[in-house]
Amino acid sequence: MCGIVGYVGDKDVNSVLMAGLWRLEYRGYDSSGVASIVNGDLEVRKVEGKLMNLEGILREKPLVGNIGIGHTRWATHGEPSEQNAHPQVDCEENIALVHNGVIENYYTIKEELIKKKHVFKSNTDTEVLAHLIEEYYNGDLKESVLKAVRRLEGSFAIAVIAASEPDKIVSYKSGSPLIVGLGKKENLVASDIPALLDHTKHIVIMNDNEMVVLQKENVEFYNRDGESIEKEEREIKWSPTSLDKGDFPHYMLKEIYEQPEVIERNIDLRLEGGEFDFGENFNFSPHKLAHLSHIVIQACGTSWHAGYIGKYLFEGYARIHTEVDISSEFRYRKPVMEGEPLVMAISQSGETADTLAGLREAKAKFLEILSLVNVRGSAIDRESDGTIYLNAGPEIGVASTKAYTSQIFQLYLFSLYLSKLKWAMDATENEEKIKEVNSIPKKMKKILKNVDKIKEITEKYKNEKHFMFIGRGINYPSALEGALKLKEISYIHATGYPAGEMKHGPIALISKNSPVVAIAPHSSVYEKMLTNIEELKTRGAKIIVIASEGDKRIKELGDDVIYIPPCEENLSPVLVALPLQLFAYYIAILNGRDVDRPRNLAKSVTVE
Ligand code: AGP
Repeated sequence: MCGIVGYVGDKDVNSVLMAGLWRLEYRGYDSSGVASIVNGDLEVRKVEGKLMNLEGILREKPLVGNIGIGHTRWATHGEPSEQNAHPQVDCEENIALVHNGVIENYYTIKEELIKKKHVFKSNTDTEVLAHLIEEYYNGDLKESVLKAVRRLEGSFAIAVIAASEPDKIVSYKSGSPLIVGLGKKENLVASDIPALLDHTKHIVIMNDNEMVVLQKENVEFYNRDGESIEKEEREIKWSPTSLDKGDFPHYMLKEIYEQPEVIERNIDLRLEGGEFDFGENFNFSPHKLAHLSHIVIQACGTSWHAGYIGKYLFEGYARIHTEVDISSEFRYRKPVMEGEPLVMAISQSGETADTLAGLREAKAKFLEILSLVNVRGSAIDRESDGTIYLNAGPEIGVASTKAYTSQIFQLYLFSLYLSKLKWAMDATENEEKIKEVNSIPKKMKKILKNVDKIKEITEKYKNEKHFMFIGRGINYPSALEGALKLKEISYIHATGYPAGEMKHGPIALISKNSPVVAIAPHSSVYEKMLTNIEELKTRGAKIIVIASEGDKRIKELGDDVIYIPPCEENLSPVLVALPLQLFAYYIAILNGRDVDRPRNLAKSVTVE
């Protein structure tokens, strides 16, 4: 959600800013803009719509200079338009500012500034900050930014330049993510690492209430009081090529096909030497985990679905009572937290505002947090007491795929670890369940090879306007995930339901030819699933079934069957996810959708 990039050095500012913005495109946006300083004047270019439009303008009218800021905007205050796009400037056109987040008290400040004769041109909360900095400006950009941000409520990351101080970018973080890239005779700032990787692998992750002043050969960090602080430099291991699509037409498809490799990598990391190893940042002692009273999982979207699967695993294997909550509900519902619970936050990006707020809510109650996060150094990673990394590599497509299956995989292993610590499962059975994971990458590859069957089915159903997804037991959350995947990238209405719940209302939606995706691999609830499918079939539904190879009975019930290799019931959501993702992907493609950047969505949801 909103992407910031800032550059100071010797390179051409057009190409650095544009390349950085393309790298941040995955975050979701509806307008964009850039600004630089040329001969003591600000130069600003802004457009509505795709980055291609900004590139077009810059080809016709390039910026000049070697310092600049750029932005992709995901509208919150004010519709997507050229005027509301960032950078926003002050009255004198001396200060230009890009912003990610929301300034909650902007209205009061705006009224105050209007009384002081500031003239506003946009409907954004961001422009208020540009004028507030102007109000405090007396020749020292750093000081005026500090004074201004101390007045703000909300979450924000900003990058500011001033024509009167053409050698520096001042950037401040409070809530929204901000990373500094340290180069040779060049320095950068951005909302996320991909925007920096073409220039440097040396980064500094900014914490809340910290400021950075970047010059070509100097970088200084400050706290909220303007005192100089030391920050730790880190080296990023990713290569810029890991951010490319390779031979795939979309990131989403590439990421779907990377899943066997992600699971293989995690088997090596987590089970090396026959012992559980949850990584360098795990930080939870066996003693502590053995004495948990219960587990509370909070997450959003696809990560919440993975968390829901975690409930079945923790209760089924480790016999620990587990609650799962959507973070935006958890943080406001005044949860009762008695005993010694473990709070888990699950997030691919590690920056989701509601999940982060839920984590802080739990911390305020002195509870310990264990997170499952893909992006190392992200806010959720930093603020948790321990983190299990997903090791999925950068996930660029807005639809989460490989991070999701890695989340389930980590939860599976963690539940087996807990079952061991709590003596909840026979040791031999535990060993058997651990061994099961080794077969998963091969089974995933087999599903991915059979993609033609899924393509054929999507051709048949591509014009449907509504889909129902049903599952039971541990594959009920898979049904929720299948429906979410389809709706977010194809814009076709889809809803997920526990199959046993259909006759309590939703079955009224079923008429002749209503498409239903039924998730029915062999499991402890298989027979129940068959009954539920029969009930829908009788009412004319068209059934697309995901079933276990060798299942002959299902052929009679399903209009179309997608087979997956048989596997341990509690690992089946990892396999089931693949046909669901491919189904959504091909339906979306056949409907001409932009699968990597679906409308209205952002990869990192950094506002609540
Ligand atoms: C996934 O396909 C979605 N785009 C979305 O639901 C996502 O899972 C959610 O926003 C949570 O994101 P996170 O995992 O980065 O916290």
